[in-house]
Amino acid sequence: MNYMLKDENAMYYECGYSCDNALYLRLGSEAFFITDSRYTIDASENVKNANVMINGDLYAEAVNLLKKNKIKKIIFDPKEWTVAGFEKMSTKSKVSFQPELDFSHKKRIIKSDEELKILSKAAKLGAKAFKALAKEFNKQGLGESEYKLTHRAKGILGDFGKYALSFEPIVAINKNAAKPHAMPSKSKLSLGDLLLVDAGLKYKRYCSDRTRTVYVDDNFSFNTKVKYKSKKIQKAYDTVLKAHDNAIIKAKSGMKAKKVDALTRDIIERAGFGKYYVHSTGHGVGLDIHEMPYISSKSETIIEDGMVYTVEPGIYIPNEFGIRIEDMVAMVDGKAKVL
Ligand code: GLY
Ligand code: MN
Repeated sequence: MNYMLKDENAMYYECGYSCDNALYLRLGSEAFFITDSRYTIDASENVKNANVMINGDLYAEAVNLLKKNKIKKIIFDPKEWTVAGFEKMSTKSKVSFQPELDFSHKKRIIKSDEELKILSKAAKLGAKAFKALAKEFNKQGLGESEYKLTHRAKGILGDFGKYALSFEPIVAINKNAAKPHAMPSKSKLSLGDLLLVDAGLKYKRYCSDRTRTVYVDDNFSFNTKVKYKSKKIQKAYDTVLKAHDNAIIKAKSGMKAKKVDALTRDIIERAGFGKYYVHSTGHGVGLDIHEMPYISSKSETIIEDGMVYTVEPGIYIPNEFGIRIEDMVAMVDGKAKVL
């Protein structure tokens, strides 16, 4: 099979290295990692199972390789390529370029044992970081804005530079938490607030992802056992937790992803909050924070052992509050194991 990759995580998956100016070509049994001279040392030291080619014009080098190897057909994922980059290749070559959406994501949907170990460690480090975050927010979070809390969360989650983050953390108070991907605001944290934190870090380039929604008292933690003063919030919280637990307990290998989605959605709908559950149950996690399988009401994907995904139901009541509880699971021996 012949394929060409441009996305960094797709390239890393193939050869254990990536940088921001590179192309990866797999041509039958040979592979080529093309980059420019700024990366000569790093690429030669780290690229595995591919020939490192240094050329300031990546596309010219790639076209050359296609010609030299008499390639007739090559697969690419249109999601990875800019129109300009793709045109540079396609206009200078007679090769038939075959689009295949999510080519690398499809290859990566089942995690190897090694990847499962790394993802498990990433999730554990993520959980540990939430503990450190609770300590920090209890000590000096009250009276601070979401901006500052987000900034602090970034330092703590990444252990001050040791780990990259999976994405920009979400720290949202009260009604801002009703926006599933809230941007930080100047709202300040006070006792009695609802606080939602959605964050993750990368271990060996693999992402963790976790969300907790808590009641801020004078010694709160990011456990899932939470008591709110408001009956309405408590009902929404208990419903989300029940939906989250139900999917984790009942998800089985061999089930369609849409069935797993229904395991959270049915509970939230039955409790009368259906219209406030505005997203799907979860997404695969790996080198990318969002990858396959997608756990949505439309997904026909069959869940299999080795898949890793999030279970993250939520209820979002505009101008009032939002609740989300998220954990990562791996399918092991037919069942969902929380990482
Ligand atoms: N935790 C962020 C997201 O899944 O979109
Ligand atoms: Mn997520």
